[in-house]
Amino acid sequence: ISRKGSALVREIHQKQSMNKSRRRFWELAGSKFGDILGVEKKAEQIDADTALVGEDGEVDFKEEAKFARHLKKDEAVSDFAKSKTIAQQRQYLPIFSVRDELLQVIRENQVVVVVGETGSGKTTQLTQYLHEDGYTVNGIVGCTQPRRVAAMSVAKRVSEEMESELGDKVGYAIRFEDVTGPHTVIKYMTYGVLLRETLKDDDDLDKYRVIVMDEAHERSLNTDVLLGILKKVVARRHDFKLIVTSATLNAQKFSNFFGSAPIFHIPGRTFPVNILYSKTPCEDYVEAAVKQAMSIHISSPPGDILIFMTGQDEIEVACDALAERMEQHISSTAKGFNKLLILPIYSQLPADLQTKIFQKAEEGARKCIVATNIAETSLTVDGIFYVIDTGYGKMKVYNPKMGMDALQVFPVSRAAADQRAGRAGRTGPGTCYRLYTESAYLNEMLPSPIPEIQRTNLGNVVLLLKSLKVENLLDFDFMDPPPQDNILNSMYQLWVLGALNNVGSLTELGLKMVEFPLDPPLAKMLLMGEQLGCLDEVLTIVSMLSVPSVFFRPKDRAEESDAAREKFLMPESDHLTLYNIYQQWKCKQYRGDWCNDHFLHVKLLKKARDVRSQLLDILKTLKIPLTTSWPDLDIVRKAICSAYFHNASRLKGVGEYVNCRIGMPCHLHPSSALFGMGHTPEYVVYHELVLTTKEYMQCATAVEPQWLAKLGPMFFSVKDSDTSLLEHKKRQKEEKTAMEVEMENLRKLQAETEVKS
Ligand code: CDP
Ligand code: MG
Repeated sequence: ISRKGSALVREIHQKQSMNKSRRRFWELAGSKFGDILGVEKKAEQIDADTALVGEDGEVDFKEEAKFARHLKKDEAVSDFAKSKTIAQQRQYLPIFSVRDELLQVIRENQVVVVVGETGSGKTTQLTQYLHEDGYTVNGIVGCTQPRRVAAMSVAKRVSEEMESELGDKVGYAIRFEDVTGPHTVIKYMTYGVLLRETLKDDDDLDKYRVIVMDEAHERSLNTDVLLGILKKVVARRHDFKLIVTSATLNAQKFSNFFGSAPIFHIPGRTFPVNILYSKTPCEDYVEAAVKQAMSIHISSPPGDILIFMTGQDEIEVACDALAERMEQHISSTAKGFNKLLILPIYSQLPADLQTKIFQKAEEGARKCIVATNIAETSLTVDGIFYVIDTGYGKMKVYNPKMGMDALQVFPVSRAAADQRAGRAGRTGPGTCYRLYTESAYLNEMLPSPIPEIQRTNLGNVVLLLKSLKVENLLDFDFMDPPPQDNILNSMYQLWVLGALNNVGSLTELGLKMVEFPLDPPLAKMLLMGEQLGCLDEVLTIVSMLSVPSVFFRPKDRAEESDAAREKFLMPESDHLTLYNIYQQWKCKQYRGDWCNDHFLHVKLLKKARDVRSQLLDILKTLKIPLTTSWPDLDIVRKAICSAYFHNASRLKGVGEYVNCRIGMPCHLHPSSALFGMGHTPEYVVYHELVLTTKEYMQCATAVEPQWLAKLGPMFFSVKDSDTSLLEHKKRQKEEKTAMEVEMENLRKLQAETEVKS
């Protein structure tokens, strides 16, 4: 995998002259893609009917076929949105033509699977149709989204279509943010939010008359868990309707899971997409994508560009490079030149910047959106004629042996690649430039992505299901059960944290942990703050860890911003540094200008403040009072240690550590506060490991070895002292006895229930 993004920017200047002459060459040659990347042109015009259904009922991935369907060239209207009223736009959507049939099928069935191309109107229209058909008279329509951005942007759009304020008739709820009100009848939310609602409501989600599980084919972890839970709700509540929507694959699978539920197809209206492959494997896809975009802008007819990258870093580099090259280009051409509007989009981007991608470009300008896979299905932008697909995406992968989640770059699946390509065919016939070879597409890519549930840490899921009284997780009705290893390992992690007891039931601590919409270790940290008497401090740290990094480091003012950051550093801990920042901001009455002066993201700090107040509300309902250990911050470090001792590592060289449990090398990040200690500490715990050029420990705190032994006795003991060895033995014995007692109790309990039944 090529990860040379930043080198690209440095190289721009050197390449400038070369680019100029090459560009002249393309112009003369009248050819674009082939000449730049060594790309072979391959026209894909497979008939729609060749889209085969395989033996197991799943759609075969002759996906190009789809793009050829319903060829209506004369309807290619890039200015469509400009010229039509919202009502007209609604009627133009493919779903409108089948509105009545669809509603009829829904009336006659409790579960319906709806399949349709992206952009056919599923997300924005289905909910409104249900509202218009009376389903909101006594209850509301809920629609779940895999991503927060989608939940927000779609809710905004639908509230406009219904001519209502956002949060009134139409609202949304994402973690730590609820924009709904007493009049809300259509509620967009993330899968996670609904999952937590199932936890709170003992009433079988009574307020919902219909739930639309949108983009279910993405198979996020929460989607899969909800599928199992909603299946039970469907069985118990006959007034309840479930609609599962899916852009492409898996429809049959969903139908089977719900006892042969009908599959309703929305006729598509897409245009053919010409697929062009790279001739040779591409070494630096960031560079290649930038070049391709420039080439399109310079020599191809109007139409916006959409580039798929893996993550924020690459997107930023690509955007910078594009901007720079545009400048060079403008200064090197005498004649007037069309503007290129460069728009990044990724989930951590502040919401107001995210909505920019939907705005129309000024006359004559071309939009170039640089996105993560967020733009694959969740967001629909009109006017895209060119897609540049790097062929990679980021995926969270859990390694059960190491007990760690890591966000890693992987080749996307063929289904995802086809989905990406399809984005070019929504407004008219388009082109997709694949920066990988056709052979890679056919032979190396997986047909469809691996569902998250089979590759991720299940800590939260296990905790949730346990609290929903699902005792035996191996029996839960999963559409694709997760590997047993993952379940057992996640249970082990929860046991280590003290959330599960020796027989796998929730402990008191575990029960409390479920109340917080946080990962188990963060919830534990919070509750240890309560126990140790430093809840106020820990609450701030947990809130700061729940938002992206607040440090703002513009490339052109790197040194200045680094200097600003250094003033906040607490030498023993990155966690305490976060605390320090928040406290100082608080002392400055939460002022925005203060943030700007100190190179801190105002929006993210505000977000942390919101998160803090929401967590505070939960603490209040649990009647947990706020305590402070100020000025003793060692206690705070102990609380951190008690939740993250599984991420303890020991010093090996300068800034170089190894994980104490698994021997995995890990490094202090150059920006870590711990470098300020003069010497780096012998033992640290860290929040998470991030794999970039090295394995970096994100957010680290120095800890004492004795703390590790005391707080994480299942992993650590102080070896070289007799007393502690004795203590260790004693504790082992105690643990064994405790386990036996619990086993005995469980046996008794089981015997009792058997007698009763
Ligand atoms: O869900 P599906 O992909 O089938 O379509 P949709 O998201 O309901 O989008 C239907 C149309 O609504 C799109 O073609 C967009 O023009 C418009 N839309 C929008 O303008 N703003 C949004 N945030 C979402 C959709
Ligand atoms: Mg949709």
